[in-house]
Amino acid sequence: MKSQQTIFSGIQPSGDLHIGHYFGAMKNWVALQNQYRSIFCIVDEHAITVPQDPEKLRERTLDIAMWYLAAGIDPKRSIIFVQSHNSDHTELSWILNTITPFGELERMTQFKDKSSKMKKAGIPAGLLNYPTLMAADILLYQTDAVPVGEDQKQHVELARTLARKFNSRFGVTFKEPKELIQKFGSRIMSLQDPTKKMSKSDENKNSYIGLLDAPDDIRGKIKIAVTDSGKEIIFNQEKKPAIANLLTIFSLFSGLQIKDIEKKYKRKGYGEFKKDLGNIAVAHLEPLQQKYRALKKNPEQVKEILREGVKSAKQISSKTLADAKQKIGFL
Ligand code: AMP
Ligand code: TRP
Repeated sequence: MKSQQTIFSGIQPSGDLHIGHYFGAMKNWVALQNQYRSIFCIVDEHAITVPQDPEKLRERTLDIAMWYLAAGIDPKRSIIFVQSHNSDHTELSWILNTITPFGELERMTQFKDKSSKMKKAGIPAGLLNYPTLMAADILLYQTDAVPVGEDQKQHVELARTLARKFNSRFGVTFKEPKELIQKFGSRIMSLQDPTKKMSKSDENKNSYIGLLDAPDDIRGKIKIAVTDSGKEIIFNQEKKPAIANLLTIFSLFSGLQIKDIEKKYKRKGYGEFKKDLGNIAVAHLEPLQQKYRALKKNPEQVKEILREGVKSAKQISSKTLADAKQKIGFL
């Protein structure tokens, strides 16, 4: 039985959610909540490591909670809360910053990607320290496993390294967490460039299917998605990365195996395949959107879930934080 094991994960309220978030994160969490003590956070303190519009940030924070619920996260089973509502996170992250080598933070892929687009004088220190805050999120809850997409693996590794370092220097305080990455769907690629991850910060809205996209937009974006040369619909990551991505999305929406989809479209063209994929995507996203819209009409109910959530979160995190402070010698 895995019932005592804990999972922790989160999404930043920093842009529109897309099917990468659904397949790479939320859908898996829904399945995992039956096996694990589950904690799902809306990480607004991570979001502000790049500039955010205050009103939009507030709205998106509540929106993400609504998507968690619409996707099927059950607040009776799982804890859902907002990071900034629990100050234990920033407090532990400060402590962890003091044992984190600067060079290791500078070498993080996400930091390099994000900061390479900025002038050095304009890079916020918070962007560099982002992974220590994420380590605090994870370590505060004695987390065993962190279900995330492929891109977050390096950050979870750092959390593990920091746990080990702290434990060996001050005595065992934190569990050493592992990343939990699904084999399939952990990296949904852009519809416009299959070498790039589907991303909410992409300026080209045709590159992603937003969870709130209208049916015609969903069908349209799939219709104009880039394809590869040749005609065959076969899964070949190297030679046919765009079709491989669309086959992955088809499989995730339909529940069909890739090889069965290949068989189904053996003598058919890209056009028919894309048309069917558009319809399947719409059929799956519509019920999700309906649940989201119903919650949107009742924000007070969602706020109440978040208030209860942070109470439960704090009960766990406060014990770990108190232990860490005691161990490092705070009076
Ligand atoms: P973020 O948007 O960075 O807050 O990501 C939230 C979660 O969604 C993380 O676990 C990511 O790894 C996951 N995720 C984001 N984009 C994708 C994608 N294109 N494919 C799969 N998972 C993704
Ligand atoms: N950095 C993660 C992302 O961009 C979000 C995140 C913050 C997170 N804290 C976390 C994910 C703790 C898992 C566990 O996707």
